[in-house]
Amino acid sequence: MILVTGATGGLGHETIDALLTTTPATEIAALVRDASKATDLAARGVAVRQADYFDYPALVQAFRGIEKVLLVSAVAFSDRVAQHRNVIDAAKEAGVKHLFYTSIQRSSDFVMPEVTESDLATEAYLRASGLGYTILHNGYYFEGLAYLIGNEVPEAEIRVPAGEGKIAFIKRTELAAATATLLTSEGHDDQEYTLVGSEAYSFHDIAREFSKLAGRPIVYKSIEAAPYVAEKVAAGFPDFVATFFAQWGDAARHGMLAGTPNTAAQLLGRPTTPLREYLQATYFPGA
Ligand SMILES: NC(=O)c1ccc[n+]([C@@H]2O[C@H](COP(=O)([O-])OP(=O)(O)OC[C@H]3O[C@@H](n4cnc5c(N)ncnc54)[C@H](OP(=O)(O)O)[C@@H]3O)[C@@H](O)[C@H]2O)c1
Repeated sequence: MILVTGATGGLGHETIDALLTTTPATEIAALVRDASKATDLAARGVAVRQADYFDYPALVQAFRGIEKVLLVSAVAFSDRVAQHRNVIDAAKEAGVKHLFYTSIQRSSDFVMPEVTESDLATEAYLRASGLGYTILHNGYYFEGLAYLIGNEVPEAEIRVPAGEGKIAFIKRTELAAATATLLTSEGHDDQEYTLVGSEAYSFHDIAREFSKLAGRPIVYKSIEAAPYVAEKVAAGFPDFVATFFAQWGDAARHGMLAGTPNTAAQLLGRPTTPLREYLQATYFPGA
């Protein structure tokens, strides 16, 4: 049986959706902390098990009879390492054979606060755990582009502190589908895969595509982190969130999100969604 954690969240739920296209529901379990948010999964025959990453005994109970676990990484600004260690230890105690962990892409040595530090610690702990493991270095979600540039078509200028950095954006549903393929196939023991978009795009590329789609000139201007944070705070984001967004820009600037190994496309059997298609569907629906 395969158990997916974070099953009430985006990636976890979409991975279960993908698993259900090839695998009987009786072989799938969902770990949630609030079962009332998982009634759709229960209705589809998925075994819903309840535990918080901080609740070790509940995790051990939830993992009984499970062969493979997909650990969807905990959210930033929480004690990610403590939560991940709990999940890994509980999986081992419950007799799980193999654990998959969703790390972030690391195509350069840049260490991003709140994300890469805890990924590195979790990965080291998992490698030493004695469990079979697979580490997924997931790319930056296309859906996260809006955090950096907003939900509206930019008026004339995109302002992000990302320099000339590129990002190999991938739709979260595509990551989920690729992950489901790995979960349901063999040969991934002690392996690491970078699952990212087929092409990496700079913010100049993004501005160029917006210009074509909007029919007016839109340019990219790389700005410093401080004014970027100030603009985001003025737009209503808390300071620590605005700073977090700026750090993603810094990660892009340092090449952390730019590599494009074609593993995700191979698992999907097609290239991933290109920038133009994503922008058109998201920012120009019905156009
Ligand atoms: N690659 C990227 O661009 C990117 C972007 C954002 C995040 N991430 C990382 O990837 C993960 C998955 O992304 P996502 O979009 O699916 O995030 P999401 O929609 O926020 O889902 C997070 C899931 O984790 C669960 N969770 C959080 N804390 C938990 C805890 N203490 N115990 C048990 N479950 C807990 C949440 O449960 P509830 O529903 O109960 O809250 C939710 O189901 C994130 O958690 C983050 O680490 C990656």
